[in-house]
Amino acid sequence: MLEEHGIAYLSVTAGTYNSFFLNPVRQITSRPAHLWKDAALLRRSLKVPIVISGRIITPSLAEELVRTEAVSLIGLGRALLADPGWVQKAAHGKAVALVAPGNPRRRFLVALDLSDASLLVLKFVQYFFTGRPENILTFVHVLQDAPEPANQWWHRARRIMQWDDRCRLTLLPARNGVAADLTEAARSGNYDSLILGQRGLSGIKRWLLGSVSGTLWQNLNDVNLFLIG
Ligand SMILES: Cc1cc2nc3c(=O)[nH]c(=O)nc-3n(C[C@H](O)[C@H](O)[C@H](O)COP(=O)(O)O)c2cc1C
Repeated sequence: MLEEHGIAYLSVTAGTYNSFFLNPVRQITSRPAHLWKDAALLRRSLKVPIVISGRIITPSLAEELVRTEAVSLIGLGRALLADPGWVQKAAHGKAVALVAPGNPRRRFLVALDLSDASLLVLKFVQYFFTGRPENILTFVHVLQDAPEPANQWWHRARRIMQWDDRCRLTLLPARNGVAADLTEAARSGNYDSLILGQRGLSGIKRWLLGSVSGTLWQNLNDVNLFLIG
């Protein structure tokens, strides 16, 4: 249909900023030319040139994809950021700077209110983000009461998750309200993402008390917000 409308070429690309660093997605997208099968399929079925992008890391891989006619053109993103001279160097058979495997380090701030929803948050974090050295996780709780019950909760939670005592819970003193304190922590620690649970306040309570997640959503435009609930 697009061909009938006279498109000049079709560029095969995939991803979203928010899913790019989830472990199952990373496993796929860390493979060189991970979209080549889809691109080759389109190339066989269409007449317009097909551009492939997504981890075309080395000139030899680019060359092979074009030589075998799997695709017509190569698209480069991170390769050009890593080495702006990539194309010229490739043309002259010189070595290029390679994009590091995997996506960059990620700093996650995991906010726990120590409700049951917090256990769900820990399960989510365990499934998607643990076990990868580039993911840096910091667990925090904004103290509402004495520190001891919070420490006991963390001790129990760690046992449930089977995490050892290298996993620490940082207790933040309550200063300007939970939302403001978490905003400040996320900003000052330069976190890419904030993960928190949704307590499921009823409509009327949310209206009266305001929602922490709603405020964070408004405050932290440049931070990924994961709301688990
Ligand atoms: C963090 C990140 C987010 C991306 N999000 C999208 C997206 O939402 N939609 C899309 O079509 N491509 C997306 N892409 C793919 C890029 O448009 C581009 O095709 C890709 O980065 C080129 O591959 P390369 O960087 O491995 O050379 C994303 C890429 C990255 C690294």
